[in-house]
Amino acid sequence: MTDHSTHKKPYIIVLGNEKGGTGKSTTAMHLIVSLLRAGFSVGAIDIDARQGTLSRYLENRARTASEKKFSADVLPLPQFEALHASSNNDQEKSQIEDQKSLEDVLERFKNNDFIVMDTPGHNLFLARLAHSYADTLITPLNDSFVDLDVIAHVTPDTLEITKPSLYAEWVWEQKKNRAIRDRSSIDWIVLRNRLTNIYAKNKENMEQVLTALSKRIGFRLVSGFGERVIFREFFLSGLTLLDLKETGHSLSISHVSARQELRALLKAINLPSLQERLSQAV
Ligand SMILES: Nc1ncnc2c1ncn2[C@@H]1O[C@H](COP(=O)(O)OP(=O)(O)OP(=O)(O)O)[C@@H](O)[C@H]1O
Ligand SMILES: [Mg+2]
Repeated sequence: MTDHSTHKKPYIIVLGNEKGGTGKSTTAMHLIVSLLRAGFSVGAIDIDARQGTLSRYLENRARTASEKKFSADVLPLPQFEALHASSNNDQEKSQIEDQKSLEDVLERFKNNDFIVMDTPGHNLFLARLAHSYADTLITPLNDSFVDLDVIAHVTPDTLEITKPSLYAEWVWEQKKNRAIRDRSSIDWIVLRNRLTNIYAKNKENMEQVLTALSKRIGFRLVSGFGERVIFREFFLSGLTLLDLKETGHSLSISHVSARQELRALLKAINLPSLQERLSQAV
C-alpha cells in the first residue's frame, strides 16, 4: 500500500552507531517488519554488506517464505539490496563511487513509503554518507558507559559530560551536510538497548547522563528494548516477534512486553500517517 499523499519521497530511517554490537541490525529488522505489517512499502539497504547481518536475516526470511509457501500477507518482505563500499584505492575516486552507488539505490527504491538503512559499527565513508540522508537517525546503545564513550566523555565521580566524542561529531557533521544538500534536518533518536533490572544503579546513572546529554547534543532519548531472547531467537528463520501469530507460534508475556517496546520506538519516530496505521498493526 503506497500512500504518496502524505510523503512524496520515501521517509528514510538510518540505524547508526560507530560502536559495534549495539543492536543496529536487530532494530533495523524489527522496524522493517513493523512498517511492512502496517501496510507500508519498505526498501531495506544493508550498508554493512561485508558483515551482512541484515542481509542474512532477510535472506533467511525469504527462504522461510518460499519453503513454507507463506504468502506476502503472512510473511511480507521488503525490496532489498546490500551495498558494498568501493574498493578503489584512490580515496577521492572511491568516495565519488560510494556517493553514486548510494544515490543509485535510493533512486531504485524511490517508490517505497520508507527506506531503512543499516550501517556498520565502524568508521566508513559510505556509512557516514548514509547518515546524511536520514530523516530519522536511530542510535541503539547498550546500557554501558563503554558504549556511551563513543558519544560523550564523562567524568567518573560526578558523571559530568566533559565533551561530545567521535560519533556525536560525526552526526553533527552529517546534519550540516544534510542542511547544505536540501535544507532538511535529521531527527536523532538514541534508543537504549538490552535493558535489564539487574544493575539498577548503572541504569540510573545512564539515565541521568543520557538525559543531560540529549539536551546538550540534540537527540531524543527513547526508553528502549529489554534484554529478551525474542529479539534474537528467530534469526535463522528470518522471523521477528511480529510474525509469530501469523506463522503459528504462541505469544508469551515477554513477547507482549517486547511488542510494547517496539511500539514505543515507532511512536517516538512520530509520523502522523505512521501512528494511524501502526495502532492497528503492531
Ligand atoms: N534487545 C536485545 N535482546 C537480546 N539480544 C539482543 C538485543 N539486541 C541485540 N541483541 C543481540 O546482540 C547482538 C548484537 O546485535 P546486532 O547484530 O543487532 O548489533 P549491531 O549494532 O548491528 O552490530 P554490528 O555493529 O556488529 O553490526 C546480537 O547477537 C543480537 O542478537
Ligand atoms: Mg549490524
